[in-house]
Amino acid sequence: MSYNFATGFKSLSQEHQQIKLPHPENNIPSWLNGSLIKVGPAQFTIGKTKVNHWFDGLAMLYKFECNKGNITFSNAFIKSEQYQSHLNGRMQYDEFATKAPLNLFERLKNILATITGKTTLNPSCNVNISQMNKIFIAMTEVNNQIEFNPSTLTTLKQINYIDNLNGQMTTAHPVLDSKTQELFNILIDIKPNNIKYQIYKTNVQTPQVTRELVAEFSKPYLFYMHSFFVTSNYVIVYNGPMQTTAAHLLTNTFNEALKYNKNHQCEFIIISRYTGKLTIMPVEPMLFLHGINSYETVNGQIILDLIAYHKEENPYNNLYLKKIANNHLDLTTEVRRYTINIENNDAQYQIIARDTIEFPFINPEFQNHEYRYVFATYRDESRPNDFLNGLIKIDLHDSQHRLTWHQPDLYPSEPIFVKNPESHSEDDGIVMTNVFDSTRQISFLLLLDAKSFTEIARIELPCHIPFTLHGNFYTHQNLPR
Ligand SMILES: [Fe+2]
Repeated sequence: MSYNFATGFKSLSQEHQQIKLPHPENNIPSWLNGSLIKVGPAQFTIGKTKVNHWFDGLAMLYKFECNKGNITFSNAFIKSEQYQSHLNGRMQYDEFATKAPLNLFERLKNILATITGKTTLNPSCNVNISQMNKIFIAMTEVNNQIEFNPSTLTTLKQINYIDNLNGQMTTAHPVLDSKTQELFNILIDIKPNNIKYQIYKTNVQTPQVTRELVAEFSKPYLFYMHSFFVTSNYVIVYNGPMQTTAAHLLTNTFNEALKYNKNHQCEFIIISRYTGKLTIMPVEPMLFLHGINSYETVNGQIILDLIAYHKEENPYNNLYLKKIANNHLDLTTEVRRYTINIENNDAQYQIIARDTIEFPFINPEFQNHEYRYVFATYRDESRPNDFLNGLIKIDLHDSQHRLTWHQPDLYPSEPIFVKNPESHSEDDGIVMTNVFDSTRQISFLLLLDAKSFTEIARIELPCHIPFTLHGNFYTHQNLPR
């Protein structure tokens, strides 16, 4: 079977500002008011350098503003230092899997600066967005978050935290405890033979962006974590098999430096949010990128739901643009539920869905609580080795019961659930996402009824959107206008 999903990685250079999107059916629910904001790599040549990997492209923000049944579309590059270097005609900063074409002197200068604790890492922030009070930030896994204006998508400035924490790496998946309004993340300080992991929190209600250290620990190597978990009492990070060292990072791209170590003693590191105490829970090696949700049961067990990869290899190696050009994706996953009992020093898992899925999204009100529904992109296996070619809704009370949306040659991105504000039912709302139509080389905004997974609307866009990564929906109350 032949596919054409690689065309979804074609650069987009045109920006749009508040283009009104026609939809003659006029059937957008009147309660849908706010903006879906997403980010992703959009320009795959920086200066004169063709980048190697999906995650290397210059970051573009996209906004779909919904107002009383009307929808407007805007998109804008994040005007990062890397974007400026693109305008100047020469890529200046290393990306995830592409080294900038620096001369020996520039490279040595950077190595020296890194050794003395200065960061020379400045890639565009194309992975996720987050909100702290009125501040909206675009992020990647390098600790250089960029503030933008969510109304205009204008780039504002690099975030400067007012505290004493230092580090070069972080995760692009901070976790909010909506009850306490604390936003958790991890800052990683890389020194030769000593990698320090600092778990911190910020209070999103306060205007200052100050990080408070919850706990820290060190390892002689860097273990890669794309996301982590928070429950009411714990932060849980996974020390998994993808690893590197400070020395490897000096001379390789980040992705080249990551190696899959089959013999690594993997462990969940369970950190008390209140005392900082660490509990180590050894587990059989597995690899995941995205956690789905985590919570504690009434019996004090910790539940971690995640998407585990089947192959013992770095899954990012499948996402080099040269490999993608073959229109053949060799990745498979399953959804696992880990149940951790700290007192018995026990961690077991069960498989709760055998699908190849990614980009999971749940009703945000159920984050860190017992929940029932998972929305995600998935691969419909009638098209084996295709890219993620559909959307799925998994019912965790009956994992055999699933609803799907898919159609040949249509490639949706991360589905964002938006709840109906007048309802308390977990799945009463809308699922929104951008979909790339590889036949027509255009994208559209898709709205599904989240309960039935039936289509409400397809709203065509004035351009194609290269595959995006993450995003979120913000109601008008949460958006400065
Ligand atoms: Fe992610």
